[in-house]
Amino acid sequence: MVRTVSINGPDRRTSSVGAVTDAAKRLYVTTPIYYVNAEPHLGHAYTTIIGDALTRWHRLLGDDVKFLTGTDEHGLKIQQAAEAAGLSPQDFTDSIAPKFVEAWKRLNIANDDFIRTTEPRHKAAVAEILQRCYDAGDIELDVFQGLYCVPCELYYSEDELIQPGNLCPIHQRPVEYFEEENYFFRLSRFEDRLLDWYAKHPTAMKPEHRGNEALGLIRGGLRDFSISRTSIQWGIPLPWDPKHVTYVWFDALTNYLAAVGYGQASDTGTGSYEDWWPADYHLIGKDIVRQHCVYWPAMLMSAGIEPPKGWAIGGWLLSGGEKMSKTSGNVVNPLDLIDEVGLDGFRYYVLADTAYGNDGDFTYEGLVARYNSDLANNLGNLLARVATVVGKKCDGVGTRPDPSSPLAAVAATAYTDTVAGWDIVQPSRALDATWQLIRATNGHLEANEPWKAEPGPDVDRVMGDALEALRIVAILVQPAMPDAAQAVWERIGMTGQVGDQRLPDAAAWGQYAGGVAVTKGDALFPRLTV
Ligand code: MSP
Repeated sequence: MVRTVSINGPDRRTSSVGAVTDAAKRLYVTTPIYYVNAEPHLGHAYTTIIGDALTRWHRLLGDDVKFLTGTDEHGLKIQQAAEAAGLSPQDFTDSIAPKFVEAWKRLNIANDDFIRTTEPRHKAAVAEILQRCYDAGDIELDVFQGLYCVPCELYYSEDELIQPGNLCPIHQRPVEYFEEENYFFRLSRFEDRLLDWYAKHPTAMKPEHRGNEALGLIRGGLRDFSISRTSIQWGIPLPWDPKHVTYVWFDALTNYLAAVGYGQASDTGTGSYEDWWPADYHLIGKDIVRQHCVYWPAMLMSAGIEPPKGWAIGGWLLSGGEKMSKTSGNVVNPLDLIDEVGLDGFRYYVLADTAYGNDGDFTYEGLVARYNSDLANNLGNLLARVATVVGKKCDGVGTRPDPSSPLAAVAATAYTDTVAGWDIVQPSRALDATWQLIRATNGHLEANEPWKAEPGPDVDRVMGDALEALRIVAILVQPAMPDAAQAVWERIGMTGQVGDQRLPDAAAWGQYAGGVAVTKGDALFPRLTV
């Protein structure tokens, strides 16, 4: 293997190419579990695709990743949706959960597990954590009266609501007055402990501006929150007082522990939950920061469990300026978009178009513009022109790169920047870094014009450089576009699965050996018109 560059950085992923790598690191990545009152839409697909690509990136680094997604099936909202559909809650959830499983299959989501909160393993984990917090004295009975938003499954104080009319700030519809005897989790006792913990883990919440919002919530003062109801049946009973069922968030958040075996007998073969816990990344939308970054670590502390190592907080995908949601009636079905721009065209758009953490505005025109500029005109065009010139000037056989090509340094920078993008869970930055290499390679071809030159060593060298760049690009885009990356890989004559490559070694310049058939094939990303 020719190694002409060294890629420097603080850890093994960015360490010099060829350095001895550590043993595989275990990584646990989760998405929110989605309410089954709605069918999967683009908003759900957004967070799930980010999680999938992050998982695939870490697999390229050799990490042993567990990627979890699933469905949130209890609570009043689901009970009401089931009633409206004329079904029992169980039959209703049984009819919707498979639609999420199916949608994620079509989006090529590589989740290792799919948890439903109606499963016995989940119920066991919820009972266990509730009992732990109760035994710790952090759950107590009290009378609750308040204003409740059913779609949010949250109580609000009047000053948090839109006035006049006591409207929910998220759903902009009136909240309901409830009064009942509830068990409460004494969140107010955790203010200092949470602030201390976050002070010691300053980069746990990414991006920083979203993390600051969560810290602001804690600093603003924490109120105890209700964790149980006697008025609804569709939920998990409290182990010590079964006429109460647990309130939706205590139930939902525990899925992350349930899926790694918490609360289950060790003879179920799942090993210890601590093999995977604490989770490395909870990917969540900005709408559920309070529950994930404030309630959840406090619940875990109460139960004597380590908080997660990280949260990656995304903004919303807006449609017509509003959050895409069933209530707003502006949902886009992700599966329809696959028909328009192809699976990987769609995945690429989701990952590249919006800086994770910010809101993004979905428009069909934006999708097509992004597809045409980055995929049809850049990557697709590079692949097609390389195959054409190799066909005409090199008898269709790939040639070797120049060890001292100017593209070698560009590739090294692209790799380091791609690593840096994924490290801070910014897929758009990671992809942009890879696109620098694609653009530079197109530029290299334009500067050398091999299509005008006579066949010979000069043409061979330039085409070898472009093929080598495409080899590296195929690896770096694999987390975002697994099928397209494999197609690039095969067209330049590489064998095996591109996803089996291991970084950082596979990104070192000079490994394209040449001597293999390069095939043109149909346009990988045909240009689209709006
Ligand atoms: N069931 C709860 C989460 C429990 S997690 C322990 C829930 N479900 S949800 O289906 O309403 O939404 C879950 C997540 O889906 C949001 O936090 C967000 O990550 C994602 N999105 C839903 N709509 C979205 C957009 N329009 N845009 C981007 N993401 C959005 O809340």
